[in-house]
Amino acid sequence: MTDLNKPARELASARGLIISGGPASVLDTTSPAVDPAIYGLGIPVLGICYGHQLMARDLEGRVSRGVTKEYGHCSLHRGSSQLFQGLPDRDLTVWMSHGDTVSDAPVGFTIMGETDDCKIAAMQHVERRLFGLQFHPEVVHTEFGTEIYRNFVFDVCGCTRDWDPRARVEQVMEDIRTRAAGRKVFFLISGGVDSTVAFYCCFRALGPGRVLGLYVDTGFMREGDGEAIQHLVREAGREAIHVADRSADFFGRLAGVTNPETKRTIIGDTFIHVQEEELARLGLREAEWMLGQGTIYPDTIESGGARHSAKIKTHHNRVERIQALIEQGKVIEPLVELYKDEVRVLGEQLGLPHEVVWRHPFPGPGLAVRCLCAEATAAVEPATMPLPAGIRGWIVPVRTVGVQGDERSYSNLLAVDGFAEAEAAGAFARRITNEHRSINRVGVMAFRRGGRGMEGLAIHPATLTPARVALLREADAQVTRIVRKHDLYDAIWQFPVAMIPLGGEPGCETLVLRPVNSRDGMTADFARLAPVVLDELAASLGRLPNVDAVLYDVTNKPPATIELE
Ligand code: XMP
Repeated sequence: MTDLNKPARELASARGLIISGGPASVLDTTSPAVDPAIYGLGIPVLGICYGHQLMARDLEGRVSRGVTKEYGHCSLHRGSSQLFQGLPDRDLTVWMSHGDTVSDAPVGFTIMGETDDCKIAAMQHVERRLFGLQFHPEVVHTEFGTEIYRNFVFDVCGCTRDWDPRARVEQVMEDIRTRAAGRKVFFLISGGVDSTVAFYCCFRALGPGRVLGLYVDTGFMREGDGEAIQHLVREAGREAIHVADRSADFFGRLAGVTNPETKRTIIGDTFIHVQEEELARLGLREAEWMLGQGTIYPDTIESGGARHSAKIKTHHNRVERIQALIEQGKVIEPLVELYKDEVRVLGEQLGLPHEVVWRHPFPGPGLAVRCLCAEATAAVEPATMPLPAGIRGWIVPVRTVGVQGDERSYSNLLAVDGFAEAEAAGAFARRITNEHRSINRVGVMAFRRGGRGMEGLAIHPATLTPARVALLREADAQVTRIVRKHDLYDAIWQFPVAMIPLGGEPGCETLVLRPVNSRDGMTADFARLAPVVLDELAASLGRLPNVDAVLYDVTNKPPATIELE
């Protein structure tokens, strides 16, 4: 990866260049740009999404500002191209996420792909080896996306395959030894995959005595998170891991707070504060120690870390105080260049058990970001937009985070009732979120106490309390048990259960089921639940005290994010 602003002459030795996507519009003069001389270097260039538009603009084609934005699956009617070599001879499902479009290809380019809404979805200049794709081959939802990149890298650019993934373990450990340079590493471990693998890499690289793990019980952990910790204790020894129950500090500092970004910032700061206190208590001398973190690559992108990406959510391991430590060279993040699936491969190579490596990912701030809060009372309203025959809909006055066109959105949830199956509800969610930017998430009613629609429900003021979090933890544990019973745990990538203070009266709640399939969390499809499974989940959760409704989130990412806030 290199800086977008690098002069062309410094890139002349590259085998090929890929200009990637981003949230900006090439029609704005302040947007990121490349040195246009790169197209004249004689090396292959592939533009993806924003890169495709940039190439069109720089080479004097035409880019038009999007009237409607296009997100989600589309069917690509394709022509022939070296990029599509070896692919089946039919239309391909591809993933789109853009506003602007290329309306005229530059001179000498041919169009080798179109969708219903995008006439220039793929273009190429064969002799100059310049290619532009409006869709995203890097997301799992694009069929044969990996093959398209392979064709570019190996066939167009002529690179050779000399990289062995098994060398990764050694390379990661070598980096740790270099970065740690005689110092010791202090880790906050959560029981989740990332911090467990990161800790274990450091332990294996540096050996006993140089790595210390602290498991802070924030009060926002899942049931069973302690088990991964027990495994580490068995492997690394009791003296390598300390356990501290600091839930009172976290709840105390979050008292009365409702804003999602404020919650995240407070949690991040409290982590640091607790870490400092525990370090003092353990008598560690600061100069000798660094902070280890299990940050993975997508965490850095979504916090706006990769230079030109918009800020979607602040990940707790990128809050200001941690940034300061990073700048002082006091943070070690062995997994920062890896995607989730690569972390899992690494974990397996290190010999960590299946249940630890394949445990569903869990956000650092834990159940705190799954337990939504509210400041004021607001009633649900019947939806006013036209709905398909037989479908009823309600606007739930709670805003959840989404990502539309690579930018953050913070919009309403639409609850619906009447769809016979998840597939139809999902297709409706795709359409309605495309047409109405005020909606970025759709939940299907799976349970309603008293059996009526969403009428009579309202958002009530609520903050993070131990009782609410305990209810959510119990709901999460029930969902995990039922999903495991149906042998679905490994088939679903992540199954967040969120809670909204939406009920018939204050203190009553609505649970939101959010099963998703994904490769790396960057994009996701909602997971289809068979009616028997959904019914069992709804019935079981409906028996919990104070639960007035259960919704099943049928939105993909984008336009919604995986977590609700
Ligand atoms: P979103 O909700 O942004 O989530 O689509 C993508 C993936 O990241 C996880 N996530 C987090 N992980 N700290 C983390 O370590 C965070 O603050 C955080 N927020 C979301 C989320 O569970 C999903 O797997």
